[in-house]
Amino acid sequence: MTGASRGIGRAIARRLATGGATVICVARGTNAEATAAEIAASGGVALAHSADVTDAAAVEALVKGTVETHGRLDILVSNAGIARDQLMLRMKRADWDDVLATNLTAAFTLCQAALKPMIKQRAGRIVAISSVVGQMGNAGQANYAASKAGLIGFCKALAREVASRQVTVNVVAPGLVETDMTRTITEDVKNDWSTRIPLGRLGSPDDIAAAVGFLASDEAAYITGQVLAVNGGMYM
Ligand SMILES: NC(=O)c1ccc[n+]([C@@H]2O[C@H](COP(=O)([O-])OP(=O)(O)OC[C@H]3O[C@@H](n4cnc5c(N)ncnc54)[C@H](OP(=O)(O)O)[C@@H]3O)[C@@H](O)[C@H]2O)c1
Repeated sequence: MTGASRGIGRAIARRLATGGATVICVARGTNAEATAAEIAASGGVALAHSADVTDAAAVEALVKGTVETHGRLDILVSNAGIARDQLMLRMKRADWDDVLATNLTAAFTLCQAALKPMIKQRAGRIVAISSVVGQMGNAGQANYAASKAGLIGFCKALAREVASRQVTVNVVAPGLVETDMTRTITEDVKNDWSTRIPLGRLGSPDDIAAAVGFLASDEAAYITGQVLAVNGGMYM
């Protein structure tokens, strides 16, 4: 589970642990250690692992090591993501490249590595975290929207490729969620957004984690290639 150090990823890690999974919490440096410790303290099983998801060798080593240590890999959640917002005319090529590398290419690397054990097992759950912005667009986020829309196409194609091996691939598309990523948005802008969200509030990380927990569960065995929007109705 990538991006487990804070925000949505931390909530997903907690949720998967509550469901009985041994959760490998991935972030850079020692950042995921607090999440793993929190899970352990509440009776779950979690391990922290350091990896930069844009480093293909590190991602491949992570998946290989996980399978060697634990014998199998049942669930992959590709959640790590960044935003580098700028209007298109001012957007630097590096901001395009960094966002695509973290949000989209990392999912490619992770899935390619995770599919090997999952196909062998004839079982697996892959869940990628996209965004409402990948569905509806947003001014100032051409790079982010491209990466998140790309994830949707990527997951649908992959879902078709691996369905015969009982591996499901689904997407959760959150709306606006209260995390570090949205912390710089002013209260005025958040209030303005809330008036455009039918359910009248921003989402919480736990709202998103609940959807991921479901798609990763046995109950979702017959669901693949889907985009589950968790956005308070802001985009239907
Ligand atoms: N918040 C929202 O409103 C919202 C809405 C829709 C979709 N999303 C998506 O939900 C996901 C989680 O977002 P969030 O709001 O929880 O963001 P966040 O609080 O900023 O957390 C981002 C997570 O991604 C990890 N990460 C970033 N770059 C990484 C890299 N190169 N290698 C490894 N880990 C990396 C971070 O770990 P480090 O500790 O290593 O930095 C952190 O755990 C993202 O994909 C985001 O695009 C968020």
